[in-house]
Amino acid sequence: MPENRKRPASVPAMNRLLVFWLAARTVFQGAAADAKRTQDASQDGWRVNSNHQTDAHCMFTKRGPPDDEEDGIPIHITNNCGETIWPGIETQSGTGPGTGGFEQAPGNTTRLWVSPEWQGRIWGRTNCTVSGESASCETGDCGQLLDCQAGGEPPATLAEFTLAGGTDGNQTFYDISLVDGYNLPLSINHIPSDNTTFIPPNLTNCACIATSGWLDGSAGTGTTYYSNDTYPIPWETDESDESVRSWCPWPNLVSPPEKPGHGIFPYPDDSIPRPPFSPCLSSCAATGKKEDCCAGEYDDAEKCKPARYSRRAKNVCPDAYSFAYDDDESTFIVPRGRGGGWEVVLCPAGRSTSILRQLGAELRELGAGGRLSEETVGRLQNVTYITMDKGDAGVVRPMVMTMMMVRWTSFALVIWLVL
Ligand SMILES: *[C@@H]1O[C@H](CO)[C@@H](O)[C@H](O)[C@H]1NC(C)=O
Ligand SMILES: *[C@@H]1O[C@H](CO)[C@@H](O)[C@H](O)[C@H]1NC(C)=O
Ligand SMILES: *[C@@H]1O[C@H](CO)[C@@H](O)[C@H](O)[C@H]1NC(C)=O
Ligand SMILES: *[C@@H]1O[C@H](CO)[C@@H](O)[C@H](O)[C@H]1NC(C)=O
Ligand SMILES: *[C@@H]1O[C@H](CO)[C@@H](O)[C@H](O)[C@H]1NC(C)=O
Ligand SMILES: *[C@@H]1O[C@H](CO)[C@@H](O)[C@H](O)[C@H]1NC(C)=O
Ligand SMILES: *[C@@H]1O[C@H](CO)[C@@H](O)[C@H](O)[C@H]1NC(C)=O
Repeated sequence: MPENRKRPASVPAMNRLLVFWLAARTVFQGAAADAKRTQDASQDGWRVNSNHQTDAHCMFTKRGPPDDEEDGIPIHITNNCGETIWPGIETQSGTGPGTGGFEQAPGNTTRLWVSPEWQGRIWGRTNCTVSGESASCETGDCGQLLDCQAGGEPPATLAEFTLAGGTDGNQTFYDISLVDGYNLPLSINHIPSDNTTFIPPNLTNCACIATSGWLDGSAGTGTTYYSNDTYPIPWETDESDESVRSWCPWPNLVSPPEKPGHGIFPYPDDSIPRPPFSPCLSSCAATGKKEDCCAGEYDDAEKCKPARYSRRAKNVCPDAYSFAYDDDESTFIVPRGRGGGWEVVLCPAGRSTSILRQLGAELRELGAGGRLSEETVGRLQNVTYITMDKGDAGVVRPMVMTMMMVRWTSFALVIWLVL
């Protein structure tokens, strides 16, 4: 049966309370659960240092920027959208870039830098009304401040970084997260330093493009920032401009379009035309139910299963996190660069990438050993290999650190609910 209920622009007050309670439990129970999982997380050379985990829970943060730019890690933010965007930056650990957000004109690249052990996240805010220090935004709002002091309000596509993760902090973990919902297309690109140019862009540069009008053709591979035909990137191949327009389940839409007949007559939801900019709440943010938030008795990989939102999110953005236990296929792990950095592009050109599925084995080799064999580099230039069906072979195994990021996603939700 189609659903005729119209959902208000934000989670209703009762739900907020429920979500608050659930999210708080997720965060605090999470610490214990993470510690437990750490013990069995040693496989395939993906070892996780439990001390690191603990440190991350009682971390300090500085606004920044780091005193010494030489030692800083470049974080560039590019607005490739057609309109002004207000990026938000949350520093969860380490020294931040000295700003929590700003206004960014279309085409602008803003170059920031953070400390080498920075942990944080970046997202795009839309439709903001700015007045002095305040900014009230339709999506990604952070307590109506232009310079965010905490995370953004769902839904927002997130770029998450733990620059010094893994054993001895020698690996960088990053991901695109749709756990808090989706607002804008986003990509993360590696900016190589002089001695990390050996890291091929096709293993590192991921994108999530789930907005109609932003999809390029449907070839199996393509290029993005910092990549070229020598380094083709495996793309998601099934979505079309039409299909991507309706991926968000109707109940998760922030502003569902008016239904014909004022919603009185049953009408197949997905055939109602939606605007290209159509922010989508995750199941957790939309319902606040324990099973959708992997909370309470559902805080368990065996019990918390992807719901409709997660499955659809995974189809349009195979390289993104879609729900709290989506560790298997959602985290990028590379040797920690000294001097290399990252660019976050809002509204990148191209298509969603499918790197973790298609090139997961090569990414594991890079992350674990800090280098790639000649044989692997050869494979990475072979388009037949890159695009062939990998089944589950390419799946990246669970990483405990990534759970941290999910915990913090929940924590940001707590802050939003409190404010
Ligand atoms: C981009 O924005 C930054 C800060 O917001 C500003 O300093 C810079 O001049 C802008 N660049 C362009 C090309 O507009
Ligand atoms: C809100 O922002 C999005 C993305 O920048 C844009 O596509 C849309 O037109 C804006 N909506 C309004 C009402 O300004
Ligand atoms: C991590 O890096 C440090 C310094 O570069 C090095 O001494 C240490 O052996 C590395 N640890 C691992 C597990 O590779
Ligand atoms: C790159 O060079 C820097 C400084 O010269 C060095 O500290 C770092 O370990 C090098 N990284 C790699 C991956 O070789
Ligand atoms: C492609 O990129 C690589 C690495 O950045 C570079 O070495 C190579 O020359 C580029 N190839 C072309 C054809 O531009
Ligand atoms: C990945 O990059 C390598 C360069 O090391 C290149 O040889 C290969 O063709 C690329 N493959 C894909 C699928 O991007
Ligand atoms: C490219 O990969 C395919 C599939 O693994 C393989 O059959 C083919 O021999 C490879 N081509 C080259 C030139 O290595």
